[in-house]
Amino acid sequence: MICAIIGREKNLAYAELESVVGSFDKINSESVVFEYTKDTSLDIDRFGTVIKLANLHGYVNSFDELYVELAQAILNTARSKDSSNIDFGISLYGKNISYKTYKRLLINTKKTLAKNGVRSRFVESKNSILNSAQIKHNKLISTGIEVVILFSTDKIAIAITHGVQDVDSYSKRDYGRPCRDMKVGMFPPKLAQSMLNISQAQQDSIIYDPFCGSGIVLQESMLHGHQVWGSDISDRMVQCSNSNIKWLQDNYQTADEAKIFMADATKIRDVPDRSYHIVTEGFLGSAQNNIPSPNQIEELRAELSMLYLNFLKNLKTVARTPESIVLTLPCWKQKEGLERLNIVDQIQKLGYTIKQFQSVEFDEVIYKRPNQIVGRQILSIKPKGS
Ligand SMILES: C[S@@+](CC[C@H](N)C(=O)[O-])C[C@H]1O[C@@H](n2cnc3c(N)ncnc32)[C@H](O)[C@@H]1O
Repeated sequence: MICAIIGREKNLAYAELESVVGSFDKINSESVVFEYTKDTSLDIDRFGTVIKLANLHGYVNSFDELYVELAQAILNTARSKDSSNIDFGISLYGKNISYKTYKRLLINTKKTLAKNGVRSRFVESKNSILNSAQIKHNKLISTGIEVVILFSTDKIAIAITHGVQDVDSYSKRDYGRPCRDMKVGMFPPKLAQSMLNISQAQQDSIIYDPFCGSGIVLQESMLHGHQVWGSDISDRMVQCSNSNIKWLQDNYQTADEAKIFMADATKIRDVPDRSYHIVTEGFLGSAQNNIPSPNQIEELRAELSMLYLNFLKNLKTVARTPESIVLTLPCWKQKEGLERLNIVDQIQKLGYTIKQFQSVEFDEVIYKRPNQIVGRQILSIKPKGS
């Protein structure tokens, strides 16, 4: 069994995980557990929303049992690494535990390891959660051990971390590219990855982004081994995508093909002649500095509904329709809650079916940083009959 620690966007994480691993159980608001039986290993770098992946060691019911099993889990791992001198770290999720109790857990574990002939050093964190940088810097996955302890209402799971999100690579992919366009709005590579996973595109399918902007979706899709197509209404953005893809090919040894051209997404005629999926963040409307008033929302709705509905209407008329479309629709912060674009009924009337999830309502899959006014609703649809 595998445990995944998920990031801030819980609903997006549920939708992404369900699309990749099938069903899972929630342990607490920060973690889930699932069975993974496929023969390919589960690589944390393919997820946008997973912070850590860990192998489940087992469950205990009380703190007393935790002391014993925690040391046992570390001893087993130390022996499997053939090590009598080990660095370890512990992260706690799902319960507010005082720093004193956390520290006692670390010290007692160190003592128990010593009694069993294993010398150790522990890495700690004031908030009882080790971050990716600490784990990487202290080599806790390669030569040491990180144990995650996950509290649910009735039991405690103990798991050994085997992957952490590579934050340095994300920063390089986000900030290291030659062409970044602040005006267009920043689309995070992690979100592109999650959307790609939600599309469930097979590796041999082409990924097409008809609002390709600076090419984040194209870049993440190429890193996942897809051939890509990208188009944009702006010649400048086509050039921007081209230079970023060239940079990616030089920096990440990806040899896959990219076809990038100018086109209005509402009038596309040229589409791949074999299986393809559309994954895209379209235009989200003008930047908003303040919470938009009801009138402003109506204006934004009128402008953007037309863009998305015309895009989807045209797509029904092309020579080959996509297997699926995963797109972002804008939503806007209000004093209470969010206002959505509200075009799902119209999308269905155009002949598309909405992908439903078991773990989350489809219209609650949102990506929005707390300080942002404009958020993104992630919608996955299929042309009827495909
Ligand atoms: C937010 S950006 C897209 C980000 C992009 N999906 C990525 O992965 O980096 C929106 C893009 O939509 C483009 N756009 C706006 N209206 C369009 C239309 N009718 N057809 C095609 N592109 C359009 C803009 O030029 C802009 O580059």
